[in-house]
Formats: sequence, C-alpha cells, structure tokens
Amino acid sequence: MREGNVEVISLDEAGEDAGQMARDVGACLAATPKDLSPWPKYFYDAEGSRLFEEITAQPEYYQTGAELSILRSLSDGIVARTRCRELVELGSGSASKTRALIDAMFNANDGPPRYVPLDVSGSALRESGGRLISEYPGLEIQGFIGDFDLSLGRLLGRPTDRNRLVAFLGGTIGNFTPEKRQEFLDTLRGGLRDGDRVLIGLDLVKDKRTLEAAYNDAAGVTARFNRNMIRVINHRLGTDLDPDLFSHRAIYDADRQRIEMWLHSEAEQTIHTPDLEAHFERGEGIRTEISTKFTPDSAARTFEEASLQLLDLYTDDRDLFALALGKAV
Ligand code: SAH
Ligand code: AVI
Repeated sequence: MREGNVEVISLDEAGEDAGQMARDVGACLAATPKDLSPWPKYFYDAEGSRLFEEITAQPEYYQTGAELSILRSLSDGIVARTRCRELVELGSGSASKTRALIDAMFNANDGPPRYVPLDVSGSALRESGGRLISEYPGLEIQGFIGDFDLSLGRLLGRPTDRNRLVAFLGGTIGNFTPEKRQEFLDTLRGGLRDGDRVLIGLDLVKDKRTLEAAYNDAAGVTARFNRNMIRVINHRLGTDLDPDLFSHRAIYDADRQRIEMWLHSEAEQTIHTPDLEAHFERGEGIRTEISTKFTPDSAARTFEEASLQLLDLYTDDRDLFALALGKAV
C-alpha cells in the first residue's frame, strides 16, 4: 500500500503461515503444562489489536497512562539528546503514545522526520499510518508488516543516513520468555549503528494487588483478549474449540516477577485436525502469556547481558513504569 507519504510493506509471511502456526501451537499444546506464552503474536489479529487498545483504556491498566506521562515530559529532551531524525518503532500497535516522540522530532526543527513502524498486525499498521499522516502531513511513514523473529535484523539493516531512535514501548519486552528476550535483544543490538539509540518501555515491579487488578479488569476486557487467542486458533487452524468454555486467570508470580495469564478449560475438549491434535481435561490450564516486571537492577542486568549500555532510566512520578534509553556498547 502507498498513499502519499505512507508506505506499508510486508517483510515476511509470518502473519499468513498457517502451517507454521499449527506447528507452534501443536508443540505448545503437547507440553505440560500447555504453554502458548512463547507466541504472544498470536493474540494480535484485528480483533486482538482492538481488544488490546480497549485494555489500555481500562482504569486498572495503569501502564499506558504512566508511560505516556514520561513521554510527554521527556520526549523533547530525548530527541535533543539522541539527535534522532528517524523513529523506528517495534510492535507499534495503534502508536497512540508515539505522538509525543513525533511532536518532539517536529519541535527539533531539523527537517521532516521519518517514522518506521514494524508490527505483525497489518490492520494496526494501516490504521495507525492513516491516522498519523492526517495529523502530521509532513511526516514520512514507511511501515513494515513483519515478525520480530524473522524480520528485525532486515528492518534494522535498511540503508539510512539518519540517526535512529529505536523505540519498543508498552512493556512488550516483558511478554518474551527469557530466551526469546535474549535473542530479540541480541538481534536488536546487532542491528544498531553508531549514533542509533534504543528506548525500551519496562513495567516495574509493584504490589501484587495493583498488578493483578491490571490483568483482571472489572469490565472483563482482558478476559476477552485472552479468550480471543482461542478464536484466532479456531479461525486460522480450522479447530472448533468453544472460547466460552475457557475461563481467564491472571496471577502475579512474585518469585519470577511476572504476571502469568492462563485459560482454564471448564469442560473436557478435544481438537482433532490433520495438523493438530490436543485434549483438554476439565479444569486443565494453558498458560497464554507472561508479562515480566522489572526493577532498576533487573533492567540494568538485562541491558548488560545484551551488550547495551544503559544511558538513563526514566520513570513516572509514581514509579509505575520506566523507559530505558541505551546504545550499543
Ligand atoms: N507499542 C504499543 C502496542 C503494544 S501491544 C503500545 O505500547 O500500546 C504489542 C504489539 O506488538 C502489538 O501491536 C502486536 O501486534 C505486536 N507484536 C507482538 N508480537 C510481535 C512479533 N512477534 N512481531 C512483531 N510485532 C509483534
Ligand atoms: C503488550 N503487553 C505489554 C501487554 C502486557 O501488559 O503485558 C499485553 C497485555 N496482556 C494483557 N493485558 C495486556
């Protein structure tokens, strides 16, 4: 798609490859306990992206407001400090908070900025690109539909003569398993050039009540988001699991400093397709997502292990959320 200054290009077929998804899901459902958390991307079909946006508007989900308050007060300073003229955003979604950084790039008066979002959700990219270009007619947008696993290296390897700020907002880094987080950060670091900086959103460790409330909102939106994973599996893999027979749970594991989302089957159910076979006992759970929370120490360790130098850790005035600014060592 190309419309004026917005271009959206597919980098890989991850969003289309039902065979790969059947293999991913099949392996996860064969494990004990059943564990889909290595594949958070399967939450984000068009409905999943919409439900995530609805979660961000729930009063219990403090992350979005806290991160936005940091971005609103510090974006001018971050842009001045990094001298970035290209904003690469990984897992950009609706890009609702990104406007603070784009405003700051325009305020810097250093020529029209370029915005390069990457997301596995084509619907989220096209909608956000259309909205941003109507708000910022001078902005150049090159959007990429693709999967971090397959396309992050390629995205960062594109030629550019600008300093880049590579933003990974929302705390999405917490949704990786430790192994996948390491792989992701290694690829990210390997793709940075002199002059590039990273800005990574991290949700902070806090009391169990606040954390669990954020993932068990009273309106039940997170429960719908969680069950939507079953709809995505049905739709893409031709299964006929009943989403309403799964109940949502989100629990904070203080030892591992992470929220775990689960779906518990309320009845015995079986999937049987040529590509996929699985049986659910009554009461059996599937872990569907982890959301790791950080402390300043674990953030510093994570950067160090990825050979990234932590330049600053900005927090909001209630210490709910942090933005880590860094560069390749
Ligand atoms: N950054 C936004 C959206 C966060 S939701 C915010 O802070 O509000 C997580 C986003 O990451 C979704 O838009 C989802 O489509 C995207 N995503 C998840 N897994 C991905 C993957 N493997 N590759 C690319 N994008 C992915
Ligand atoms: C995108 N990610 C940071 C969200 C989180 O909080 O881990 C996804 C989410 N899952 C349930 N609610 C929100």
